[in-house]
Amino acid sequence: MSLHVFIFSSLPIILALLLLKTYIFSSKSHKNLPPCPPKLPLIGNLHQLGSSPHRALHAMAQTYGPLMLIRLGTVPILVASSVDAAREITKTHDKIFASRPSLDIPSRIFYASKDIAFAPYGEYWRQVKSISVIHLLSNRRVQSYRHVREEEMTLMMEKIGRANGLVINLSELLISLTNNVICRVALGRRYDGRNFKNLLGRTLELLGCFSVGSYIPSLRWVDRLSGLEKKVDDVAKEFDEFLDGVIDEHVNKEETAVEGQDLCDILLEIQRNNVTVERDMIKAIILDLFAAGTDTTFTNLEWAIAELLRHPRAMKEVQQEALKVGKGRSMITEDDLENMPYLKAILKEALRLHTPIPLLVPRESTQDVSVLGYDIPSGTQVFINAWAIARDPSKWEAPEEFRPERFLNSPIDYNGFHFELIPFGAGRRGCPGIQFAMVINELVLANLVYKFDLALMAEEVLDMSETSGLTVHKKCPILVSATSCSQVDAN
Ligand code: HEM
Repeated sequence: MSLHVFIFSSLPIILALLLLKTYIFSSKSHKNLPPCPPKLPLIGNLHQLGSSPHRALHAMAQTYGPLMLIRLGTVPILVASSVDAAREITKTHDKIFASRPSLDIPSRIFYASKDIAFAPYGEYWRQVKSISVIHLLSNRRVQSYRHVREEEMTLMMEKIGRANGLVINLSELLISLTNNVICRVALGRRYDGRNFKNLLGRTLELLGCFSVGSYIPSLRWVDRLSGLEKKVDDVAKEFDEFLDGVIDEHVNKEETAVEGQDLCDILLEIQRNNVTVERDMIKAIILDLFAAGTDTTFTNLEWAIAELLRHPRAMKEVQQEALKVGKGRSMITEDDLENMPYLKAILKEALRLHTPIPLLVPRESTQDVSVLGYDIPSGTQVFINAWAIARDPSKWEAPEEFRPERFLNSPIDYNGFHFELIPFGAGRRGCPGIQFAMVINELVLANLVYKFDLALMAEEVLDMSETSGLTVHKKCPILVSATSCSQVDAN
């Protein structure tokens, strides 16, 4: 065959291939992606996040809109900053967005993501989530630990009383209280020694750290060189040894009556009836309860008290409510809480203004999907800026102001059905610990304002700056003097 004949006869095939390539290329480039803020090579938009990513992303959303596609290193991240965007992600397309990205630090700490919060969507996650919802954190189970909460709360009030008006570090007392409650509920006893506190503190801090390798895989060596990997592996090993010890103790002790069971007993009982429940699964779930349940719970209480100290009128109002409900008894009980709408409104308002996990826990899409008319490719990570949504002026009147009364006579709740207030997330991945957390917080706040008048040091203005990390708390602890509430004494 001559060259001319060859070229001539191949021409249609070459043209068809060229057309196909053009079609594929153009259909790719015609994807309607959300607005992408300009980025730098290699690091993408990393440099723009600073120490308060929720605030930086909120500011960027003012220019680029409620759905933006940023890039952290090589990883595309969809950032949702409006009610409509959050609703589409956690309700309309909840299943598609129900997975979690594989992140280096949580994966090393939680036994290759065998926990609930970081497990990818699938059969394993369904199993651990239903264990948590049905057996560990159901309303009935939370009720059954009422005595633990009331005992720990009473001990804290006694400690405050003994300080006799001298300055106390209220933040430290609140951290200890939430840790003690979770320890007793999950493990059957307190672990309040310095070693455990230190281990838990280091673990929580590392979970909030940024690992370069998760976002720029070619620079994974930076995590090794900076010592981050070693720190993570050290806490993972220490916690593993601690949990092994706790589980051995539980296995070797005499069987506990059902009423006295802690969550570790319950998990071991589930294991006896189901061979697929491995020891690592039990350890990862217990670790999750500590990681997801301590810092977050205490943070809400700490911010609520800080706001009350800055708003004496609200403080007075909640004290009046407590006095009316307490009727001079020695303490306010959990039965009284349903008659304290203003107290509940204060905690809600604190969750709105100071969302404990402002960007929620990252999700990842598992299919191509359209959100608010934009094309979102499969494998896109998602941050939902719940903090920004809770300050959206189109949804909230005077959003920057602390106004608990906005929730009185309002149907808006934090249970994942009102997308303007989603501090616990929403949909399949929503937090299963709402009841567990809020009953502690309500009980403690009610009794604190019932029993004590809290005062800052003279002339002091409360510093409201935030820490950075996954959970955002007050940078400076709350230092107050607490004197017996004059009106309770009068009763
Ligand atoms: C004020 C306290 C708390 C806040 C603000 C909070 C917030 C959150 C948030 C934002 C998520 C992710 C939701 C999402 O991706 O849509 C979450 C998940 C989770 N939380 Fe909470 N939480 C709190 C207390 C607790 C407590 C007390 C526990 C257990 C003792 C707990 C256990 C969990 C677990 C296991 C998950 C993972 C759920 C999943 O991925 O399927 N949380 N929480």
